[in-house]
Amino acid sequence: MLRNYTIYILKYICFTFVILTFSFSANSEPSVEEIIKGRKALFSKNYSIAKRVQSLASKGDFENSKSLMLEMSENYKILIEYFPDNTKEGFKTEALPSIWENKDEFNNLMKKSSTDMIELAKVIESSDDIRATLQKFMWSNCKACHSKFRAPH
Ligand code: HEC
Repeated sequence: MLRNYTIYILKYICFTFVILTFSFSANSEPSVEEIIKGRKALFSKNYSIAKRVQSLASKGDFENSKSLMLEMSENYKILIEYFPDNTKEGFKTEALPSIWENKDEFNNLMKKSSTDMIELAKVIESSDDIRATLQKFMWSNCKACHSKFRAPH
């Protein structure tokens, strides 16, 4: 009885392992096109979220604006993975070579942008000047990064 059970468990583990390996290898290598288009889409998404954050916070709807701030924070973390070495050109990318020449600086800006959104969610409600707070913790990061790492458009 116990032996049957052990075999059952082992089979289950093996099966899970095979499925996981299969699904990972099926998804492990997105094409250059998918990566570049994927990051553009995510930046565009963050832009529309940022505009909604601005309008909600200005109206005093802090609950909804805060959850969007946290969503933006997560998107920045995901974006860090969207700049592998083989995606320096093609598919109308506006990413500059300076990204790969200063990868640590670029990644740190991305991380700072992410943690600033968490900070923003903490301070927005008690802030005296909503516009200035949004500028400081959200919009200024876009400019800081674009001025060095994104081609003029
Ligand atoms: C740490 C760097 C960094 C930060 C922070 C950042 N961006 Fe960008 N952004 C980029 C890079 C690099 C590109 C070019 C991506 C490409 O074309 O492959 C880009 C592209 C874009 C695009 C164009 C997407 C497209 O469809 O081509 C928009 C819109 C955008 N960013 C908006 C924003 C906004 C708004 C913020 C702040 C709320 C922001 N970004 C913050 C680096 C950054």
